[in-house]
Formats: sequence, structure tokens, C-alpha cells
Amino acid sequence: MLSFKSEPQLTIKPVGAFDLGRLARLHKHCFEEGWSRADLAHLLALPGGFGLIARQTGGGFASFDSLRGVGFALLRVVRDECELLSLGVVPAQRRRGVAAAILRLSMQNCFDAGARTMFLEVAIDNLSAQALYERYRFSRVGTRPDYYARPDGTRMHAYTMRADLVEALAGSPAPAS
Ligand SMILES: CC(C)(COP(=O)(O)OP(=O)(O)OC[C@H]1O[C@@H](n2cnc3c(N)ncnc32)[C@H](O)[C@@H]1OP(=O)(O)O)[C@@H](O)C(=O)NCCC(=O)NCCS
Repeated sequence: MLSFKSEPQLTIKPVGAFDLGRLARLHKHCFEEGWSRADLAHLLALPGGFGLIARQTGGGFASFDSLRGVGFALLRVVRDECELLSLGVVPAQRRRGVAAAILRLSMQNCFDAGARTMFLEVAIDNLSAQALYERYRFSRVGTRPDYYARPDGTRMHAYTMRADLVEALAGSPAPAS
């Protein structure tokens, strides 16, 4: 009997001009407070700004995920520093190594563009993201009070985290896929 099912494969590519709508939908799927196409276009147009989008191909119905994407990262490189502005994976594809793969490629791309240190902000109650970042050699270097505004009107403090890219790329675990 013929089978059209193949092993799912993760591909991660730079965000292109036609990905803005897809990226806005992905962002909305991952965060309570989605960013608009205009917000995203603005970030990507900043000097040193770029994005990565992960797609899942193969695996029967997973082909839907190859169209809409399963995760993304937005970054900015300024000289020898870079910032991870946003990172998300759709709920149905979490705990499969997608964020780890995106983060590792983000670090490599920033390193190749001349960055040696990566910074990010993460909400102090976002323990899953903190676990991911700690695994990739980020450590806390500060706290920003009331940094995030939540849709319910409350505010949440953020940690600023920092990673040395040489150490992180040499010592972090290889992604599962
Ligand atoms: C945080 C997030 C990006 C992780 O994505 P993911 O694809 O599920 O992460 P991975 O499968 O690559 O996890 C890699 C490692 O991170 C850690 N981790 C990820 N999610 C975790 C969770 N829910 N609990 C504990 N550790 C977690 C683990 O160490 C994990 O390795 P393991 O699965 O071998 O234990 C995802 O949960 C997400 O999109 N959340 C909403 C948006 C968000 O908070 N983004 C970060 C903003 S700063």
C-alpha cells in the first residue's frame, strides 16, 4: 500500500518580504499580546534587524505547518552586541526542540554578523522560557520593574539575561531536530 507520510523535518529560514502576515499570525498564536504586521515590519527594518521562521515539512498533515510556520525569532545586531527581541513556538509544537533549534541558529547568525554577546528580556513568571535560556548559557544580569504590560492591565517585571555567544555556541546542547 502506498503511504504519503514522511518523517517531519524542521527547516529554519530568514523571514522574507512575503512572510509578514504569517509572522504576525504566529506571534499572535504564541503571545497574549500579538504584534501587528506594522510593528513587525518596523522591527525588521531597523538597522541589523532580522527574523527567522521555522517550518515543519513532511509528516502528513504536518504539511499545514510548512505553510503557516511553527515558530519564529526576531533579532537585532548592533556591532558586537545583539538582542533577542522575540521568540515563540506555537503551542501544539512545544517541547519538541523547535525553540532550541531556532535559538541556536539565531546565535550562530548573530555571531556571523559580528555579535559576541546576546541580550534578552524575559518575564519573571515565564519559567519555561527561562529554563530554555539557562540551558543556552544565559544568566540574569538585571531586573526591569513593570517591563511588560499584560492585556488584563497588570504589569510584570522582567529579567535581563545575557549570554556570551562563543561560550553558548560551544557549550549548548545540539538541537534535537
Ligand atoms: C518558551 C518557548 C519558546 C519554548 O519553546 P519550545 O519549542 O517548547 O522549547 P524546546 O522544546 O526547544 O525546549 C528546549 C528546552 O527548554 C526548556 N523548556 C522549554 N519549555 C519548557 C517548559 N515548559 N518547562 C520547563 N522547561 C522548558 C527545557 O530545558 C527544554 O529541553 P527539554 O525539552 O529537553 O527538557 C515556548 O514555550 C513559547 O513559545 N512560549 C510562549 C512565548 C514565550 O514565552 N516566548 C519567550 C519570550 S521571552
